[in-house]
Amino acid sequence: PRVAVLFGGRSSEHSISCVTAVGVLGAIDRDKYDVVPVGVTKDGRWVLAGAETASWALDSGSLPEVDGSAQAVSLVGQAGVATGTAELLSSVPGRVPGIIGEVDVVFPLFHGPFGEDGTIQGMLEMIDVRYVGAGVLASAVGMDKEIMKIVFAAAGLSVGPYRVVNDADWRHRKAEIQPRVAELGWPVFVKPARAGSSVGISKVEGPDDLLPAVELARQHDPKVIIEAAILGREVECAVLQGRGGTEPRTSLPGEVVTGGNHDFYDFEAKYLEDGAAVINCPADLPESVIAQVREQAALAFQAINAEGLSRVDFFVTPDGSVVINEINTMPGFTPKSMYPQMWAASGMSYPELVDELLQLALA
Ligand code: DAL
Ligand code: MG
Repeated sequence: PRVAVLFGGRSSEHSISCVTAVGVLGAIDRDKYDVVPVGVTKDGRWVLAGAETASWALDSGSLPEVDGSAQAVSLVGQAGVATGTAELLSSVPGRVPGIIGEVDVVFPLFHGPFGEDGTIQGMLEMIDVRYVGAGVLASAVGMDKEIMKIVFAAAGLSVGPYRVVNDADWRHRKAEIQPRVAELGWPVFVKPARAGSSVGISKVEGPDDLLPAVELARQHDPKVIIEAAILGREVECAVLQGRGGTEPRTSLPGEVVTGGNHDFYDFEAKYLEDGAAVINCPADLPESVIAQVREQAALAFQAINAEGLSRVDFFVTPDGSVVINEINTMPGFTPKSMYPQMWAASGMSYPELVDELLQLALA
């Protein structure tokens, strides 16, 4: 089968997506699949990616970015364009090669808005192309931290206390924000409702710092969510769609331990600073807690109607109760990321996982 791997894109997680793509491109079995790598620039142009991806890595000096000067690609193939990767990749003068009409399956590796949120999924549904991962609704629900909490609570999962500040609240009811948020107690976490990788997130210790933090989050999304801090361990669980309509499969849970001078799992600790966050996988937890985490991860996956893969993030409080934090329908997917690590600890290697996801999409 021919696979188009899509990455980069318009969200603030562009570079993370590029690094995720390096991992996936390196792990796809080339004897089995014909691979067409397509990068989407930060301003939304589609190009054929080439050898430059091999040197992409995350370090603070240079975050990788899709090079917009590469050959353009159109979404839908022009009738009569020859198929076969060699022809697709060769430049036909005066003609922009089509990719999506020419492939059997798309592996969208976008994180964040414009890709993890149902937008690319809707485009692919419209042109009837198969793709890896969640559909339109599940992607959109999984992107929005307010809507996902509403859906989780309705499914009987335990969700932490939160408040939402939407654009109208900010413009017309600003004076009410602080008293409403104070009901949560301090500290709180202020987040763009639809973003990822901790971009735009602040930990706020008291009322004075609240509005500046909301303003910062608003640079990423006019809807802001403010969550009560939950005292507990950060435990995550990987979910994979079952084969042939069976129940979702769950991995052994992993744990994130943030240290150094980071008081939460922020962007720097996640990606840039070696050793600032340690992933313990499998997490050292009592059997009963592991069972609860796995059961609730599967329930969260089903609650939003996810497909393919998701990583579900929880807090485990000192008394052993499990509170859901969020679901990510396209979790970080470099070989070092938590999602593949949790599967590796559960007996599925990174290349096996990539193949399994493609097979689920093709089935
Ligand atoms: N949003 C990042 C990529 C994650 O969930 O891993
Ligand atoms: Mg997320």
